[in-house]
Amino acid sequence: MELIKLSGINKYFGSGENRVHVLKDISLTIEKGDFVAIIGQSGSGKSTLMNILGCLDTPTTGSYRINGTEAGRLGADQLAGLRSKTFGFIFQRYNLLSSLSAVDNVALPAVYRGMRQQERTNRAKELLRELGLGDKFPNKPNELSGGQQQRVSIARALMNGGEIILADEPTGALDSKSGEMVMEIITELHAKGHTIILVTHDKTIASYASRTIEIKDGDIVSDTRSREDIATAGRPQTEQKKSAFGYLKDRVSEAFRMSVQAIFSHKLRSLLTMLGIIIGIASVVSVVALGRGGQAQIMANISSIGTNTIDIYPGSSWGDMRSNRVRTLTVSDSDLLAQQSYIDSATPNVSTSGTVVYGNESVSASVSGAGEQFFDVRGVELVQGRLYTADDVMGIASVAVIDENTKNRLFPDSNPIGQVLIFSKKPLEVIGVAKRAGTMGNNDSLTIWVPYTTVMSKITGAKHINSITVKIADDVNSQMAEGNLTQLLLAKHGSQDFFTSNSDTIMQTVESATGTMTLLISGIALISLIVGGIGVMNIMLVSVTERTKEIGIRMAIGARQANIMEQFLIEAVLICILGGAVGVGISALIGWGFNSMPMEFKMLFSSESIALAIGCSTAIGVIFGFMPARGASKLNPIDALARE
Ligand SMILES: Nc1ncnc2c1ncn2[C@@H]1O[C@H](COP(=O)(O)OP(=O)(O)O)[C@@H](O)[C@H]1O
Ligand SMILES: [Mg+2]
Repeated sequence: MELIKLSGINKYFGSGENRVHVLKDISLTIEKGDFVAIIGQSGSGKSTLMNILGCLDTPTTGSYRINGTEAGRLGADQLAGLRSKTFGFIFQRYNLLSSLSAVDNVALPAVYRGMRQQERTNRAKELLRELGLGDKFPNKPNELSGGQQQRVSIARALMNGGEIILADEPTGALDSKSGEMVMEIITELHAKGHTIILVTHDKTIASYASRTIEIKDGDIVSDTRSREDIATAGRPQTEQKKSAFGYLKDRVSEAFRMSVQAIFSHKLRSLLTMLGIIIGIASVVSVVALGRGGQAQIMANISSIGTNTIDIYPGSSWGDMRSNRVRTLTVSDSDLLAQQSYIDSATPNVSTSGTVVYGNESVSASVSGAGEQFFDVRGVELVQGRLYTADDVMGIASVAVIDENTKNRLFPDSNPIGQVLIFSKKPLEVIGVAKRAGTMGNNDSLTIWVPYTTVMSKITGAKHINSITVKIADDVNSQMAEGNLTQLLLAKHGSQDFFTSNSDTIMQTVESATGTMTLLISGIALISLIVGGIGVMNIMLVSVTERTKEIGIRMAIGARQANIMEQFLIEAVLICILGGAVGVGISALIGWGFNSMPMEFKMLFSSESIALAIGCSTAIGVIFGFMPARGASKLNPIDALARE
């Protein structure tokens, strides 16, 4: 039965002046079950012919039919299928994968064929045992002798059946004893029904075969048959049932395993590749956490000022240079506002600063004069004693509530309540100690709260006030209240000589400002991620180049383009995810360090930003790994295999 039929095969290498005609009009048929030796001197074209037979290379012209199918019409995947199921290659230099054990090397063709893990391991072990390597399962190729390596490669050729065994100088690198052993195994395989095509330059080796074809300078010069023994014994078929899902799962997990192996066998290179991703992800996650923490802190401070409050200042805006000199707000403005139905309370604020004296101590402090509502509106909490009341304000009482800083400075060990401070030559009796709920900015300053009436008439003598703080009635819209009181004061003053500030508006401003900052810094971090991605691509490209031979071997034993692509893509993604995870870990470390220091705020990590970071690094792996992976999968099997 005709298995292989070559007609008019020509093969040229190179182009132009360097074009060489390596195979010249070769026509040849090979029967199923035959044992053919192709003999010829070095450079005569034997390997070229063999590679065409094994569908590793394509002829320049001519027809090659295998089992009646024209090989030239088959696509890359179908050719890979032929290499996987029909052919078994035995190379002069074994071509084992150095990172895999003997068992894994033998089992590899079955991975690409979709055999289950358990089944293929068992089969690989059985084949190795049959070839006398029962004690070498876990050994890597460099732990085996040449003869042993060649037997591993024979086992590999048989893994998927190996209907046609293609052996290119299988004994070329072996001592004569190992060579003899290999030839005996090959002869045995012929007896079992395998079709054998053997390439050699050695007449003794060729004498094992039943038919000898001699080629010289690309021409067949003789074709002699020494024995009429076409093997007909039924060769054990290894057809396996496979579920599509089981196949996919197995294939991906195998690609995953190989990627992990590749990453860990080049630890430093993998680490350097990851560096860009690590830095990028660590900075994105940290910056977002910093931004969120800072924002949360500022929000907490603002809400401690009191929501539902509106402050009214003289001048036209915060930047108004004249606002210090504008003296348009008066206590009567505050009283007028307090009478409005949409306003819960209004308190004038006057402030001044100076030296506070107690006993021998004198310290500088700021004095904040306000109504009794101030404490409630501003969230000032009583710590000790009492706050001043409406009666104190009405009665222009010389009383003071001091903050904790002042207490610590002037009364470190004693009870301040009832003691008298001197401010601006005026006595003030301490009635309470209080603290602000949220502290913002400089928290070393000393503050003393005194009724505004006392400040105005006893201390500064001023007629104007610095600001009015209004608390809006419940259920009243703050914007509406703001609009109404602006109208009211405008009517009273006749001109817009004041401006209002609403805590809601401040919050919105802060929110958008910190949001913008986070976005900006994230943008910078994103750039570093892209740079990292390019690094990954670069290294993957190098890796593809470096492992071209490996890719060639995988293709020779039946890997399809998709298998190669998967492997490299998974590798890129894995590197990026690992980098991302390390990056998240580093930023967690930064956060831990930051949060254990006495900072004004804490870093807040969100699961979204971490998920986003990991998602990002995966995407980078896919995007930047795609090109090198595709490049690897598009390699021509024989070109890849020929690379050293
Ligand atoms: N990829 C190639 N590019 C150019 N020339 C090649 C290539 N492969 C083989 N050749 C040439 O083709 C001729 C036959 O090579 P080959 O088939 O390897 O011979 P053999 O296996 O009989 O020693 C040699 O002259 C070799 O230099
Ligand atoms: Mg050769």
